[in-house]
Amino acid sequence: MPQNLKAVSVALPARFNWRASERIEAEFAAVPFDKPDPALIPAERRGEIRALAAWLSPDYIPLIDALPKLEIIANFGVGYDPASTLHAVAKGIPVTHTPNVLDEEVADTALALLLNATREFWPAEQWLRQGKWESEGNYPLTPLTLRERTVGIYGLGRIGKAIARRVEAFGLPVHYYNRSKAADVAYPYHATLEDLASAVDTLICVVPGTPETRHTVDAKILKALGPNGVLVNIGRGTVVDEQALIAALKDGVIAAAGLDVFEDEPHVPAELIAMKNVCLMPHVGSASRHTRAMMGDLVADNLVSWFSNGETVTAVPEARHLAKRTAQ
Ligand code: GLV
Repeated sequence: MPQNLKAVSVALPARFNWRASERIEAEFAAVPFDKPDPALIPAERRGEIRALAAWLSPDYIPLIDALPKLEIIANFGVGYDPASTLHAVAKGIPVTHTPNVLDEEVADTALALLLNATREFWPAEQWLRQGKWESEGNYPLTPLTLRERTVGIYGLGRIGKAIARRVEAFGLPVHYYNRSKAADVAYPYHATLEDLASAVDTLICVVPGTPETRHTVDAKILKALGPNGVLVNIGRGTVVDEQALIAALKDGVIAAAGLDVFEDEPHVPAELIAMKNVCLMPHVGSASRHTRAMMGDLVADNLVSWFSNGETVTAVPEARHLAKRTAQ
């Protein structure tokens, strides 16, 4: 079963994670491509490609269909595009992702968003750099604080739990909503997102972007958070109805937001950019060299394991039944 990996063709996107690229180039026969357009890869190379490294998006579907020998897709990131993933899985092609290694980093970023949205540390730092401390005096007191908040976590998976541990350490109570109650935590569980939003004033979204989660944080949920409400989104932009959020922030339905993800990245609505009561980050949840190197290694490890032992390391849940190669 172990194969000569140098003979295995792996399609490798341009500008991919550096660590994954270095390893794929060193350990496999890399087939670079600029965009997921089958026409950009010569037909004879397409016929040889057995694996695809990718940051999957729906644009990948034609490429998946144009690779007759494709056996595995290694997605960079814990989140993965549902359309192209389900398309591949329906064709019997396992898709892997990069869970676990980024949990703590993403949780750190969630707390940074929460702290900045409430205590305005970034504008306060700008105040100092712009010389205003000397010319105008102290930075204005922040209307918001973390003190006396109750935090709701929407999606208490691995990352949600890492966030919950930090929130507890900050001395704040944690509640959560999940599709089902978690057996290993004592935090109060709410059976609906609306119940959770009514019970807390701070909501942290940590759910993937699927058709089921799309726009689940809507005007009703934001109203339930109330005028002292703070929304943090570290999951996927599609989970929040961005227009409803803009309206809620403008009208004082909620007080502030901290966002790392947006509906149409890298486009961020001008209304949000103009607002002072938001902290906006360019999808940097896991973006340290330390963590991105581990994610890149996991992309490569999945490919090595598949072609050496016939097993993925971290198949996405929808592909668990394809996680091991069956005898051919
Ligand atoms: C980043 O957003 C990821 O899904 O890993």
